[in-house]
Amino acid sequence: MNKNTHRPSAKALSWTRYWRSGFQNTCFFADEAFSVESDWRAFFSEAATGAKIIDLATGNGALAWIAAGVARDSHRDIAIVGVDFADISPADLAGVDAELLQLVAFVGSTDLAQLPFADAEFDFASSQFGFEYAEESSALMELRRVLKPGGKARFLIHASEGVVHEATTQRQRRARLMLESGQIIPLLEELAKAATSASAPRVAKIQKRISAKVDLISRKFKQLPADDLVFELCREAKVFIAAVGQVPAIELSARVRHLAEEVRAYTLRLNAMQQAARNAGQMQGLCQSADAAGFTLSNYEAYHVDGQQVGWIFKTQASD
Ligand SMILES: C[S@@+](CC[C@H](N)C(=O)[O-])C[C@H]1O[C@@H](n2cnc3c(N)ncnc32)[C@H](O)[C@@H]1O
Repeated sequence: MNKNTHRPSAKALSWTRYWRSGFQNTCFFADEAFSVESDWRAFFSEAATGAKIIDLATGNGALAWIAAGVARDSHRDIAIVGVDFADISPADLAGVDAELLQLVAFVGSTDLAQLPFADAEFDFASSQFGFEYAEESSALMELRRVLKPGGKARFLIHASEGVVHEATTQRQRRARLMLESGQIIPLLEELAKAATSASAPRVAKIQKRISAKVDLISRKFKQLPADDLVFELCREAKVFIAAVGQVPAIELSARVRHLAEEVRAYTLRLNAMQQAARNAGQMQGLCQSADAAGFTLSNYEAYHVDGQQVGWIFKTQASD
């Protein structure tokens, strides 16, 4: 397997930040835990001993771990590969099951449009909120190339009317309120600067302004998920205010720069999620493109969990 050696894009880096920060479960899953595992287990259970599964845009391996669990529980010798264009390292996560890890190979820095695998290497392909982020026609052609004839694929795809999409839109609104109306980052920058040169009353005045904004936003948005930008910025702003006078000013400036980078990465990820979402017409188009790329029996259906549309399920099979 040759890894791509070109420089990672800003998009890929934004996901690397996310996965390296340790989130293990599917990102932005409508800010709720929907139970999708049993359906994935059913799909992976079709794999017999000797089969090879590729999980596309695997992130921290949400699906790859499920596939590995199925293999272990059913005592089948199945190899699983998880690929992603972020520089992932799920093996380094806390609490990793060493036994499952032996069944999975994670390959980061790999675009779905350029897979470093031999022709007809895999029997099954899965993807959970991942395939639709890549360039569609090249990702389809690459998938067709690496799947064996008759190889099956099942993808959960973002739906533009689904609850995950709606949750993403809400996150964008909240982030905008804090960043554009709240001006939190410029205020933190001002505080970092004031800490080096300004008088104590001026520093106290800026601290008070930031505190008031954070309190207002915290009251408005209660119980936010831990990977929500607003949650993170509120927490960090409080830590920051308390750190003034306690840590060197140069460290304060570095912290603001880090937060500004987090904000940029978060915004890129949210935009990518919005763009990835498909409506019914686009799903129809995906089926046609798949059939044109050498797949057969391509079809899709709305996927509901607990009465809500979480996404689309797209299924297809490599032609013989
Ligand atoms: C919403 S996350 C889903 C991750 C994982 N499948 C899960 O269920 O937790 C989308 C993933 O797609 C990856 N991705 C986006 N574009 C990609 C591309 N062109 N090639 C490979 N991976 C890509 C991102 O790095 C990110 O990890």
